[in-house]
Amino acid sequence: MAVFEMNHPLIQHKLSYLRNKNTDTKSFRENLNEIASLMTYEAGKTLELKEIDTETPIQKTKTKVLASQVSIVPILRAGLGMVEGIVNLIPTARVGHIGVYRNEETLEPVYYYCKLPQGIEKGKVFLVDPMLATGGSANYAIDYLKEKGCKDIQFLCIIAAPEGIKKVEEKHPDVDIYVACVDEGLNEKSYIYPGLGDAGDRIFGTK
Ligand code: PRP
Ligand code: URA
Repeated sequence: MAVFEMNHPLIQHKLSYLRNKNTDTKSFRENLNEIASLMTYEAGKTLELKEIDTETPIQKTKTKVLASQVSIVPILRAGLGMVEGIVNLIPTARVGHIGVYRNEETLEPVYYYCKLPQGIEKGKVFLVDPMLATGGSANYAIDYLKEKGCKDIQFLCIIAAPEGIKKVEEKHPDVDIYVACVDEGLNEKSYIYPGLGDAGDRIFGTK
């Protein structure tokens, strides 16, 4: 497994807004989606192309288009905050949803919903969630996707704790992780520090 930390200055600049506790919901959402777009540009380098016949105003030629279907699967709720940014770059992508939340006492993932695009297992899957903390939610979602036959999964997250990366790495060495920043660690409540707080609450304004 490879971990790609996105040190691009624009990503780091926008991440600074996400971390700031005074950033309002509107600005948080906008910056999150913009980072998701920039990360997709980088993660999209692994997408395969096929040649098709195309007629320009001048002549017939061969052009290149994406060879296989891309599916985006946000882990609800917070992963939803990245979907628009990704779809802006890959408008043909289909979107599945997997609902998993972390029980704040046991830290175990709790499953509550799933709807995946038909044939998802034949193409590339971008599993997305802004936060990789203990790794429980990500591992649950990857297990689930693999049970459905998915073989080509990349995980895109904004902030990860080293503990979470290790856990995913151990269980799913075939899944590459694209992350805007690997933070210092997990605090006593297993929140990432310095982190950005609770991503879902900040995207949806629930607290
Ligand atoms: C957050 C986050 C991840 C999970 C990460 O979701 O969006 O899904 O926690 O923690 P973990 O790596 O320790 O599992 P949360 O459970 O708060 O649900 P929400 O998106 O509905 O707010
Ligand atoms: N979930 C979040 O939203 N933030 C964290 O720091 C950890 C889990």
